[in-house]
Amino acid sequence: MSSSLPSRPSRWLVQVCRHRSCDRGGSAAVLATFREHQGPTILIAESDCMGQCSAGPTVKIMPGNTWYCRVTAEDVPRIVEQHLGQGEWVRDRLHPRFHPPDPSD
Ligand code: FES
Repeated sequence: MSSSLPSRPSRWLVQVCRHRSCDRGGSAAVLATFREHQGPTILIAESDCMGQCSAGPTVKIMPGNTWYCRVTAEDVPRIVEQHLGQGEWVRDRLHPRFHPPDPSD
């Protein structure tokens, strides 16, 4: 699995699920923390259920179609700096359904 995202876009879209299961897991705090970093190059959006309820709070980032699972507010600064800033995945929060671990890593 490559550690780099395919592109460094002019604008990121971060979707944070606020539906029931993710909300119970703390997605309001995740969304609020992401919104502290919103700006011309980072758009933060609240989402309805993304179908990954058992692994929430769920965060999806476009472009690149990256899915993060079990995200906490404490993870957000790392995702902002590493993913949105440097174009590198935060591997320990990647959703394994969409980003299966590479045995060669
Ligand atoms: S409730 Fe968040 S993915 Fe379903």
